[in-house]
Amino acid sequence: MFQLNDNYLKLPGSYLFSTIGKKVREYQAAHPDQKVISLGIGDVTQPLAPVIIDALHRAVDEMGHRETFHGYAPDLGYEFLRTTIAKHDFQARGADISADEIFISDGAKCDCSNIQEIFSQDNTIAVCDPVYPVYVDSNVMAGRTGTYDPQSGVWSDVIYMPCTMDNDFVPELPKKTPDLIYLCYPNNPTGSTLTKDQLQVWVDYANRVGAVILFDAAYEAYISEENVPHTIYECEGARTCAIEMRSFSKNAGFTGVRLGFTVIPKDIQRDGVALHALWARRHGTKYNGAPYIIQRAGEAVYSPEGKEQLTKQVAYYMNNAAVIKEGLCKAGYRVSGGVNAPYIWMKTPDGMTSWQFFDELLNKANVVGTPGSGFGPSGEGYFRLTAFGTYESTLEAVRRIQRL
Ligand code: MLT
Repeated sequence: MFQLNDNYLKLPGSYLFSTIGKKVREYQAAHPDQKVISLGIGDVTQPLAPVIIDALHRAVDEMGHRETFHGYAPDLGYEFLRTTIAKHDFQARGADISADEIFISDGAKCDCSNIQEIFSQDNTIAVCDPVYPVYVDSNVMAGRTGTYDPQSGVWSDVIYMPCTMDNDFVPELPKKTPDLIYLCYPNNPTGSTLTKDQLQVWVDYANRVGAVILFDAAYEAYISEENVPHTIYECEGARTCAIEMRSFSKNAGFTGVRLGFTVIPKDIQRDGVALHALWARRHGTKYNGAPYIIQRAGEAVYSPEGKEQLTKQVAYYMNNAAVIKEGLCKAGYRVSGGVNAPYIWMKTPDGMTSWQFFDELLNKANVVGTPGSGFGPSGEGYFRLTAFGTYESTLEAVRRIQRL
């Protein structure tokens, strides 16, 4: 008789963005005349840049000819893309990362959730609170998080590092020593960042206690301020303690195309075994590589035209961020983020819970956001809005919120 993986049964409710999607569909069905604006899930709205479309077309044509057809991709990624990434994202920033330390995948969400597989089940994880739910949920599925207290929203075996207005959304080093530390900067959901010195503190700490930092840099393209590191490998010593995950979703609009990568320096080792070797083994066994045409599209992101076109796209979204931030500040809300990240993080008004404010906004303004408590207990009383809408709908959403 088969048995379930009953770790799945410990998961409360459904995935955050599935819950929101369901609520919005129900509302829309009951109010078909209302025009709902979604500033909820961080999904892009601008079409793929011309340089990417051209690269896709060329690669599709190649697939139609015997001489240029491609079957299975190399399981760790095509050399042309790995080399390009190493050069532009790392070596150009003085970060010592080589092409063979880069693993191409179909997105950062999968990598963020799968990476825990190469660690012992006995490892303790530390997460910022609030946090991108994938980090915790994937560890719940793996049986690493203990029991859940629905009252507090806390897992017994997870180390939470609160990030609130009181500490300017900068986590303190945990009192209990973790084995795996999830960090996401620029941060989803708070839109905050760490300076290079602040990140260096984490790298030094991880090396001291023998922990690994799982660094999610999906929003790197949105950094606008000096002294904010674009990769954790700008920090001294990161090669021995940090894995970095990157996405093409937010910098190049690939949410529907799917491409990402993970960097594992060969220097991260335990008892003479490199994590690099374990992840390579996993990739080889479980994954057949992102499609050739998509990897060619990814390569185009780094071309001079690609960089120019995508800088404009990022600026478009960051203009939305400014519109939201200024509009909400004018309306008297307490707002942060939106400077180095496409997320605006706001305090809910009048002591409302995050979900009360979600309902208020949906019912009275027909605007969808993401309740802060969905990202963890310290997110209660906060709310996230994304800058990934169109300019017009963002403007309209802000006007509606101002009229509340
Ligand atoms: C978010 O809204 O937090 C993100 O879009 C979710 C994701 O990237 O998977």
